[in-house]
Amino acid sequence: MLSVKQFQTQVLRWYDEHGRKQLPWQQQSTPYRVWISEIMLQQTQVATVIPYFERFMLRFPDVGALAIAPLDEVLHHWTGLGYYARARNLHKTAQQIIADYDGEFPQDIIALEQLPGIGRSTAGAIYSLGMQQSAPILDGNVKRVLARFFAIAGWPGQSSVLKQLWDCAERHTPAHRCHHYNQAMMDLGALVCTSSKPACAQCPLESHCQARLLEQTHCFPGKKPKKSLPTKQCYMLLLQEGDNVLLRQQPPVGLWGGLWCFPQVEMNVDVQQWTQDHLGIRLQQPTVWEPFTHTFSHFHLVIHPLHQQLDGNNVCQVMDHSAQIWYKLRQPPKLGLPHPVSYLLGKLL
Ligand code: ADE
Repeated sequence: MLSVKQFQTQVLRWYDEHGRKQLPWQQQSTPYRVWISEIMLQQTQVATVIPYFERFMLRFPDVGALAIAPLDEVLHHWTGLGYYARARNLHKTAQQIIADYDGEFPQDIIALEQLPGIGRSTAGAIYSLGMQQSAPILDGNVKRVLARFFAIAGWPGQSSVLKQLWDCAERHTPAHRCHHYNQAMMDLGALVCTSSKPACAQCPLESHCQARLLEQTHCFPGKKPKKSLPTKQCYMLLLQEGDNVLLRQQPPVGLWGGLWCFPQVEMNVDVQQWTQDHLGIRLQQPTVWEPFTHTFSHFHLVIHPLHQQLDGNNVCQVMDHSAQIWYKLRQPPKLGLPHPVSYLLGKLL
């Protein structure tokens, strides 16, 4: 077995030679930059995040700029990243930091964890990578490295498994160079100890890795018990008049909360009647576009787009909804759009 000290030394040596040091949030790193990157990197790959991060930093260079920005604009900068609650929480947290902490991130890990959208691992990342203090992290990559090295069985979504992983992360986190150690553990998980086909020959921990010695790297960490996702279907109404198309804002909570969407109609509803009743628009032989599927964490949504070119003067007439706009395709306003909506808008141009 490696001692804790030997484990840290191996990881830090590997970091010096192979760890990532050129990521945008590692340049002039501040708690703010680390925070934004960590939230973006939840559920999203580094390569996807980089351009989003750069654009976000140009528009919202610090916590004050984010706090005073309209939420719509924050959501606009999130369009395509998904899981929009993350963006709403960013905005709320920025306002809280201005109101309660004078615009400075609290230098206290417990206080960090109390902020909306900041869990224990994100707090650890901000504290270590952004403030050069010592705290453990446990994101998906680190879970995989630890689960394999110590052959910790079971799915990390189970609280007993998660507790073992956190205990292990805590024990191995060094007091010095913690930011390098944490970055190294994430990089090892992302670049070497990958979920399929790990490059064990390049791993500094290989000779003592329990999963490797058992030739069972693929069994760790344990998989989430599979349940098949239900499928729902809906129409999306693409109502176009010239260069304008009708969008409505979703209520603040729930699916796509606060984002702007095409009117959606359930499949078992008479769509012509619905459009007449709710929008005051007569739908005449809309073009039926190819359906496509959008997958949420808990169901698949098969979207059936119906496109109608309107001739009358509908722009002023639509009823029954307070938050709606005629979105100008050629001068698009900065709004938060779910991925399927921005995909369909792209096809309308
Ligand atoms: N994933 C989460 N945080 C990360 C970081 N700082 N660098 C690379 N990947 C990450």
